[in-house]
Amino acid sequence: MEAIVVWYLRMSLVYLVVGSAVGFGMILWPDEAGYFIPLHVHVNLLGFMAMMIYGVGYHILPKFSGRHVYSPRIMKVQFWSGNAGLIGMAAAWPFIISGEGGLFGGILIMASVITFVSVFLFAVNILKTIKSV
Ligand code: HEM
Ligand code: HEM
Repeated sequence: MEAIVVWYLRMSLVYLVVGSAVGFGMILWPDEAGYFIPLHVHVNLLGFMAMMIYGVGYHILPKFSGRHVYSPRIMKVQFWSGNAGLIGMAAAWPFIISGEGGLFGGILIMASVITFVSVFLFAVNILKTIKSV
């Protein structure tokens, strides 16, 4: 398995543990849970679920198609942008919900754009990999 694929899987499992720990904290401290719902949701869905799908997808889909990944470089750029974007979004969200805009508003917007870029790169890379001719 390629090193970058292993890193996708590792980070996915890190996000599963962190996201679930936050969920557990939300059960223990229900009064504060509201600040952490978007963090919890996106660390679990964009972190654990999507990152697992990226890793497994990059490993399996080219083999199904009898091809190599269209761009190994995009695979790496996507990994770094996906992680940076998600961590930025997760870090900013509780501050935004608690009413602190300013710097955190800027971080959330930037991190969202970076996250979207990474999602888009995955779509392009996989579509180019699996195209039928
Ligand atoms: C130990 C594991 C987990 C615990 C204790 C936990 C706990 C919670 C809690 C307390 C809420 C807020 C419910 C509310 O008041 O509205 C929540 C929401 C949510 N959790 Fe988890 N969670 C866990 C794992 C996960 C995982 C692994 C995922 C996804 C893969 C996930 C996805 C979600 C989603 C999508 C919501 C938002 C639901 C909505 O829109 O209302 N959670 N979770
Ligand atoms: C660029 C990527 C994304 C951005 C910028 C984004 C942004 C947002 C925002 C602003 C909200 C509303 C949060 C609030 O209630 O204040 C939200 C909610 C939500 N998002 Fe995303 N999202 C992204 C990707 C995703 C993906 C890929 C998934 C699932 C795989 C997802 C699942 C959800 C869910 C389940 C909620 C509802 C959470 C709740 O119950 O409050 N998001 N998202």
